[in-house]
Amino acid sequence: MSDNKNVGAPAPVRRIEVDGAEGAERPTVPAAMEYDYTNFYFGAGSDAFALLEPFEEWYSQVKPAGYYLYELPLQTQPGTRVDIRDTKTGEIRRGLVNFASYNYLGLSYRPEVKQAIKEAADIFGGGSSGSPILSGTTELHKLLAEEMADFKGKEAAILFPTGYSANVGTIAGLMRSGDLIVADQFAHASIVDGMILSKAKSRFFRHNRADDLDRKLSGFDGKKLVIVEGVYSMDGDVPPLAEIIEVCRKHGARLMIDEAHSAFVFGPTGKGVAEDQGVEDEVDIHLGTFSKSLGGQGGYVAGPQNLINYLRGFSRSRFFSCALSPVVVAGLRKALELARNEPELRTRLWENVRRMQELLTNEGVPQGESISHVIPIMVRDDARIFMIGEEMMREGVFINPVRYPAVGKHKSRFRMSISAAHTPEDLEEGATKIARVLGRYGLCQ
Ligand SMILES: Cc1ncc(COP(=O)(O)O)c(C=O)c1O
Repeated sequence: MSDNKNVGAPAPVRRIEVDGAEGAERPTVPAAMEYDYTNFYFGAGSDAFALLEPFEEWYSQVKPAGYYLYELPLQTQPGTRVDIRDTKTGEIRRGLVNFASYNYLGLSYRPEVKQAIKEAADIFGGGSSGSPILSGTTELHKLLAEEMADFKGKEAAILFPTGYSANVGTIAGLMRSGDLIVADQFAHASIVDGMILSKAKSRFFRHNRADDLDRKLSGFDGKKLVIVEGVYSMDGDVPPLAEIIEVCRKHGARLMIDEAHSAFVFGPTGKGVAEDQGVEDEVDIHLGTFSKSLGGQGGYVAGPQNLINYLRGFSRSRFFSCALSPVVVAGLRKALELARNEPELRTRLWENVRRMQELLTNEGVPQGESISHVIPIMVRDDARIFMIGEEMMREGVFINPVRYPAVGKHKSRFRMSISAAHTPEDLEEGATKIARVLGRYGLCQ
């Protein structure tokens, strides 16, 4: 979070001139783009609404300059080609190559998944109408939990309404004030929020650095939990698990992994990065979401029966919230079955990843250090990232611009998600168009 607490400053009207390609006429970026959400976090005064007005003033300036690229309404399923409404012009932009959805295996819209959803809707209706511990659990929920435990090779599994609530509920359900939690510095917001809610002492170790984890765990005498992710969602890299496990053992710390982006994709049977690195049984808590590779919604934890029993009683984000819709659960059961029965989906995904890396490299597009299906395209220009994002959309590519505070300052990028469903033509057209836009800004090497 920004350390600039003196906020509420009205956004300046000065405009930043942007260099364009030779001869090309480019719009200017308002100087207000130098501000971001963090400038409106703290404000003086006793009125809880004190920040609304300056925020609104700032937002009205930056929205047309690119902040509108959030929440563009899709008109279609999250396939490899999508139609979206450009909320600035009102136009429907059709047939964009989609690199923005998490649908890594293309399962969300498979006919078998849609059929399972329709059948469940006929039996159960739209929602669960209750907490999972009261009236919200259907037979489908029980079956999905058992199937997830079986898939992960664990004694038991428990479902959550989202991956976010799985992290919050598990971390705050298990850890207490006076305990220590140490997470990777790039941990997802849901991990950070779980740490805050637990009231345990929270520390962060340098990204993927087991030696720093060792330092952060040193000198603490009490309950310790270490949290890492399978694939880091902004960088597409993976943790060195063997080294991290060694440090955890040395300090008697439990290890939790969030395989949100890696489950169903990594490993010989698709369990995730822990399986891929041969340490599946040395990780204590396996957490993930159904919203990425399975193309649905929800979260899960898999592990020993006594852990799952405890979480059932102490995960407030789960039992004080409505259970997943049975319609969603039915789709997830079918998606899980397809992911397990069709390993060729993973093979195709990895072929697509390699092909896209090759295409981008040939085009001179600057990529981050990813080894996965999440490929960051580095722009490192916080002022212009949205302007470039707008051009990507107009060129025919749907890809999300990411800037501070979601990533560090001057580390803005496009976050590209590859899917098994992308065709060779999708990949080629996408790479060419991305390179064309970046080239206009002098960003291709
Ligand atoms: C690492 C990680 N954990 C948890 C979540 C939250 O998952 P969900 O969208 O299912 O709430 C995300 C979402 O992007 C994530 O990247």
